Amino acid sequence: MADAEVGDDVYGEDPTVNRLENCAAEIFGREAAIFVPTGTMGNSVAVKIHTRPGQEVICEERGHIFNYEMAMMAHFSGCLARPIAAPDGILSWALINKGIAPKIYYRAQTGLISLESTHNMAGGTVYPREVIGDICERAHEAGIPIHLDGARIFNAAVALGKPVAEITRKCDSVMFCLSKGLGAPVGSMLVGSGEFIKQARVYRKSLGGGMRQAGVLAAAGLIALEKMPARLAEDHENAKFLAQNISRIPGIELNAAKVVTNILVFNVAATEMTSFDICKKLAERRILASGIDPQHIRMVTHMNVDRAGCALAFQAMEAICGHRVCAGAAD
Ligand SMILES: Cc1ncc(COP(=O)(O)O)c(C=O)c1O
Repeated sequence: MADAEVGDDVYGEDPTVNRLENCAAEIFGREAAIFVPTGTMGNSVAVKIHTRPGQEVICEERGHIFNYEMAMMAHFSGCLARPIAAPDGILSWALINKGIAPKIYYRAQTGLISLESTHNMAGGTVYPREVIGDICERAHEAGIPIHLDGARIFNAAVALGKPVAEITRKCDSVMFCLSKGLGAPVGSMLVGSGEFIKQARVYRKSLGGGMRQAGVLAAAGLIALEKMPARLAEDHENAKFLAQNISRIPGIELNAAKVVTNILVFNVAATEMTSFDICKKLAERRILASGIDPQHIRMVTHMNVDRAGCALAFQAMEAICGHRVCAGAAD
């Protein structure tokens, strides 16, 4: 980052940002890409381009775009979210189809379908290729574009054993984060057609996301993009290890078989403690996890958490929940 070659990116003159954008476009097999400060900004810009005010956006009920992006879909794009609940956060065409507005003049029209893979709050779940492919094909037949909130799409690619270009090919636009599992301190990317990204530059600027000598950040982004995907499998193995052990603690409801990436979400209701109480006790032991509601805890594995750290987290959970699991806990 200190050695990054920089210029003014608002004028398209930052060579490191340009390199990052070209590299992302190439990896995703797209015409162009744009560097944005956050995933929220990437998603907000995408929704704005795909829709017109007064339209609806179909998304999953627990989706980030619906719950954690400050209602930007309404605020910035003038659209109404049409959330649909899906098992494990994974929508199907059958579920989506029920939410598509009939083509009659007195109903707000569906302007966009936004999918999330991996699905954060559903526990890092992944859209199977056939499911996402089917949704895209049928949506396109109905004249509706698809945006993919792929904040953790590289985790999905590792879980599916396929390149990101292949698993996202039919989506009209993809946002992914260089931060989070890929380890950059800041930054996300939006990829799509040349025309789409040209418009994205306008809306990024409107949102105050036109940065000047941003090459210092793009330099970290290049490492995230080029080097870090190769180590994500390790995070997935650690999450699986953690899940297999935590699921054995009496009072915890967690299906370890469903943990296929780096996120675990589990129910602690039967421990007779709230998730917030448990997380506070974990934090006292320097283990950070979040209570997403009184019953559910979310844990994430990443480059700064190794297997020994996961074992410590499991032992702390065991101690806090007041039970000892029989010897020979899953390795
Ligand atoms: C699925 C998903 N999409 C988008 C975002 C937004 O990213 P950012 O925090 O960079 O705005 C997040 C952040 O947690 C996320 O989990």
